[in-house]
Amino acid sequence: MKAAQINEYGAARDVFRLLCDVPRPEPEADEVLIRNRATSINPVDCAARSGYGQNFFSRLGWGDLPMVFGRDACGEIVAKGSEVENLQIGDEVYAAPPIGCYAEFVKVKGAHAALKPRNISHAETASLPFIALTAWTALVTEAGLTPDNARGKKIVVPRAAGGVGSFAVQLLKAWGAEVAAICSTRNVALVERLGADVVIDYTRQDFRDYLHDYDVAIDLIGRKSDFDELDSDYKGGAETTDGCNYDEQLMSVLKRDAGAVYVTVCSPKVALTNQYGFEEGMRRAELEYQQRAAAAKEAGLGYRWSFFNADAAALNEIAQMLESGTIKPVIDRTYALNEIVEAHEYCETKQAQGKIVVEIE
Ligand SMILES: NC(=O)c1ccc[n+]([C@@H]2O[C@H](COP(=O)([O-])OP(=O)(O)OC[C@H]3O[C@@H](n4cnc5c(N)ncnc54)[C@H](OP(=O)(O)O)[C@@H]3O)[C@@H](O)[C@H]2O)c1
Repeated sequence: MKAAQINEYGAARDVFRLLCDVPRPEPEADEVLIRNRATSINPVDCAARSGYGQNFFSRLGWGDLPMVFGRDACGEIVAKGSEVENLQIGDEVYAAPPIGCYAEFVKVKGAHAALKPRNISHAETASLPFIALTAWTALVTEAGLTPDNARGKKIVVPRAAGGVGSFAVQLLKAWGAEVAAICSTRNVALVERLGADVVIDYTRQDFRDYLHDYDVAIDLIGRKSDFDELDSDYKGGAETTDGCNYDEQLMSVLKRDAGAVYVTVCSPKVALTNQYGFEEGMRRAELEYQQRAAAAKEAGLGYRWSFFNADAAALNEIAQMLESGTIKPVIDRTYALNEIVEAHEYCETKQAQGKIVVEIE
């Protein structure tokens, strides 16, 4: 099959090889094989390509060279293992496998795939699984929001025009929450269209002057010093904040002693395993988490580090919201698989408004 592979870490232009003779993956008993029609680019792909998370991803069994990246898949099931009962050959599905989506075929656990929404294209669908499940884990699993309790709650979403942010804003509005979105001037119109109640243009306004007594903050930027030592160009989003601690800024707009929660998807956990190796990095991460959670508790706040979690039940709910038009994919640019270098380079400009999609035909 055709796949975009790297044999070493480095700049996109130096390391990507578009190969046409990579073996097609064989599904295990609990896996399905997808004829992959489209995928999308996530900042973590670019970061991992340049060396971020080697120790972490390798320990999870995803990170050894040569590697085919890609966290979003959409297409037809062409083979399945004997234990998969929820899906059939011929089903059109979408999923966020841990790796391997920059390829014509990709395998994923049957329990992690869901039927594709019927009303949108493969490319539109492939823009969603990884960012949607990242937002879902942070907002639902960690912050405890549900369709029944979100109404009227005040949530702040920075980096709101990016993949995770644009999905989070739409999900929260669908559930009746009051959403304050933070973005730069060029993204204000987009974020307003997504339905945000309050839009803060961080190039002109300090959100702390405008937002008070919020219930939840989802941090898509992180603390700058957590990424300063990293031998990679990945910095979370923290280079936007001019040396300030974005986590502290977000926490300052939350209600005290009233069940408010700060959730970050930009924790230093993976960066610490880069710096100190897997065991020591994880030990330091746990210590750091405990200290920060204790400080937040002292200030009357909940505190969580959140990580993407594969969840087919959530993908099923999200598919229904896409079919009803409650949530719409936000796509900036579309590339072909043989333009993967350009797609990565565009992601690295950090200018994407919504998602960068790659069609695989
Ligand atoms: N923990 C997890 O499991 C997990 C999973 C997925 C993603 N993440 C993290 O979540 C964050 C958001 O991911 P995403 O896919 O939503 O990002 P994204 O789509 O690449 O975000 C694009 C947006 O970032 C803003 N931006 C501009 N300059 C920036 C800069 N220097 N640094 C950071 N952002 C800048 C831009 O909006 P403005 O011009 O309006 O600023 C742009 O529209 C990333 O750090 C990613 O690694 C974590």
